[in-house]
Amino acid sequence: MSCTVVVGSQWGDEGKAKMIDFFSKDADIVVRYQGGANAGHTVVVQGKKYVFHLIPSGILHPGKICVIGNGVVIDPEQLVKEMDDLKSQNIDIEGRIILSDAAHLILPFHKAIDSAMEEFRSAKIGTTGRGIGPSYADKCYRTGIRIGDIFDEDLLEEKVRLVLDYKNLQLEKIHGRKGFSIDEIMDILIKFRNTVKPMVTNTAYYLNEAADAGKNIILEGAQGFGLDIDHGTYPFVTSSNPTIGGALLGSGLNSFQINRVVGITKAYITRVGEGPFPTEETGETGNILREKGGEYGATTGRARRCGWFDVELLKQARRVCGFTELAFIKMDVLSGLDSIKVAVGYELNGKKVDSFPSSLLHKVKPVYEDLPGWSEDISRCTAIDQLPKNAQNYIEYIEKKTGIPIKVVSLGPDRENTIVR
Ligand code: GDP
Ligand code: IMO
Ligand code: MG
Repeated sequence: MSCTVVVGSQWGDEGKAKMIDFFSKDADIVVRYQGGANAGHTVVVQGKKYVFHLIPSGILHPGKICVIGNGVVIDPEQLVKEMDDLKSQNIDIEGRIILSDAAHLILPFHKAIDSAMEEFRSAKIGTTGRGIGPSYADKCYRTGIRIGDIFDEDLLEEKVRLVLDYKNLQLEKIHGRKGFSIDEIMDILIKFRNTVKPMVTNTAYYLNEAADAGKNIILEGAQGFGLDIDHGTYPFVTSSNPTIGGALLGSGLNSFQINRVVGITKAYITRVGEGPFPTEETGETGNILREKGGEYGATTGRARRCGWFDVELLKQARRVCGFTELAFIKMDVLSGLDSIKVAVGYELNGKKVDSFPSSLLHKVKPVYEDLPGWSEDISRCTAIDQLPKNAQNYIEYIEKKTGIPIKVVSLGPDRENTIVR
């Protein structure tokens, strides 16, 4: 048995889906463990691009089982749309998608409150508007609707009434918005029930049985370390735990079953939405990275903020997640830069900072080292020794600074543009 956790090590969009697709060829089961349709996970196979928001990124490998774990918040209409899109592209998903009965649902009032709360805040988070925070909040309030609830219609209606009465008061009285009727919400849930009934089970039980039977399992994180509600740049975070703890809680596997934790890291950094980003480049360099890297959100289409690699951020992600290796993504985007900057530490009020000051990140100044760049197009290289010397040096430099071996290097969006070291 092997169980690999794939975690974003920066602020999301590191290329997790590309690597999950790549690792999936050797897996039996791929499990999404947290987040919802705020995620935009891109896989490119022979030039054809697929974007997943809820369905695990292993789905393009025939026969692999894809599980949506209890830690995920599921928008029923989005999930059905994604399944329909796959079917319309002749991808056989029959019997391959399994949903946790304990996963919470995202309903239209969650999305309405997400947008109303953004409007209400003076300092915006820049959420994706997918209802993520409000759905996780209901889970904590114990007013959430779980997939398992939709099979008992009488009890379901009682549960929906409780949460809906409260949300309608909030929407109408606080935010001056229109509420929702019980009928429209029940309608969505009953339709969803009819579509997904055979797919729902206790996935913690299913996954433990699979692990005991020696299956190879990949746990797919969404977002990344910096967006973790506990360890990220609160309040500019998402409402779940993309880090290793979230993988355990959101799947029901236990820590003794995990034997590999892959940190996915871009060769530079991007961030969508608001919040501190010490190495952000707001000028010409940022524009070059954005345009060369196609850095526009896979979910909202927003321009991603771009900047240099940050060693301290990665080291903190390693502390929290225990990465056993890194996958180094989008190195091809750096071709053509005369020099590449790497932040190797921070200064706060003119003094070197020794710890990771997550709540003061907006105040730190990065300390940079400059590395020589390379001009060659490296996207077609198939082995590390084909890379220009300076590109090889960059990989070794990041390994040394972070203390984590880089086992995979990605040089383009396609499955093929991948080198295993
Ligand atoms: P995720 O959310 O971590 O799965 O990442 P996204 O899919 O949101 O964003 C990563 C983007 O980079 C997608 O458009 C990928 O197709 C693309 N991509 C992944 N790896 C590489 C790479 O090595 N080079 C380039 N140029 N693009 C890549
Ligand atoms: P993947 O899985 C990048 C960001 C939003 C916002 C903050 C909170 O594709 O890496 P939310 O809607 O979750 O309440 O928004 O988190 N965010 C992401 N940024 N990639 C993602 O997912 C993200 N999911 C949420 O932009 O700043
Ligand atoms: Mg993404």
